[in-house]
Amino acid sequence: MSNKTSAVVKTNPRKAVMIGCGFVGSASVFALMQSGLFSEIVLIDADKDKAEGEAMDISHGIPFARPMKIYAGGYDDVADAAIIVVSAGAGQKPGETRLDLVNKNVAIFKSIIPEIAKRNFGGILLIVANPVDILTQVAQKLSGLPEERVIGSGTVLDSARLKYALGEHLEVDSRSVHAFIVGEHGDSEVVAWSSANVSGVELHKMCEMRGHYKHKENTEEIAANVKNSAYEIINRKHATYYGIAMSVRRICEVIMRDEKSILPVSHMMHGQYGIDGVVLSMPAIVGANGVESDIPIELNGEEALKLKESADALKSILDGLEL
Ligand code: 2OP
Repeated sequence: MSNKTSAVVKTNPRKAVMIGCGFVGSASVFALMQSGLFSEIVLIDADKDKAEGEAMDISHGIPFARPMKIYAGGYDDVADAAIIVVSAGAGQKPGETRLDLVNKNVAIFKSIIPEIAKRNFGGILLIVANPVDILTQVAQKLSGLPEERVIGSGTVLDSARLKYALGEHLEVDSRSVHAFIVGEHGDSEVVAWSSANVSGVELHKMCEMRGHYKHKENTEEIAANVKNSAYEIINRKHATYYGIAMSVRRICEVIMRDEKSILPVSHMMHGQYGIDGVVLSMPAIVGANGVESDIPIELNGEEALKLKESADALKSILDGLEL
């Protein structure tokens, strides 16, 4: 192992590491196994048996996918990874918000992130554990990595939930829906309705074309359902993991294939909409180097105000953390 002053380790472009093998970590590795993006995935968990069991179970799907290696490992395996995904941490229990997890999960990050930092990791660090925006900012600070290489899954999942809901409402393919949720991945998230469209057709026009005229009621109901969907799932099955697993797969695909797709990942704001020094989700061009360029989409006055409130809510939590 090299020390902090050594050169960054050359990355193996086909290697990923998952830190945390709970529901989210395991489901994400299962999705990544099927993606064909990697030839090696290392699973790390404080409970080594759990990591080994998940690696064994997921490996048994390889004959139906593509040859690769999936195994339980340790921090000495992270240095040359192209991407490290961190899902480790407590998950929400019924009645808890994502922000309620902050103290427990910051403490866990204080043990994980320095292990990555001291190995001269040269790849992308993708944070998935909640509260994802806060933990991404914590990981940026504790890792000392360039901020564009430390990103969070952010509202990629919320935006997928929104597209799905609008696709169902309008009876169109959800992939033809272009709509973003911005801000916190959580209770203060904001739907950017003013820029939402279906293949270039403004959303309210598309709604009318599909026989829906109660624009205000319908958008309010869809936004509330999307925001509350994790609570609804957790009340029923105590965790969410398939939707986030597909989001992790998509973010990894964009990075590994240098797609330069626009995704609403958590990343640092530098003055956009009057927000500075706070990590939250905003569409950005994502590629092999992580966040390449911020895309501050058009927001109307009300949306911009709500976004600022979302940033302020995150900032007040960050200010209370000792890092
Ligand atoms: C989700 O939104 C709980 O953040 C997780 O499904």
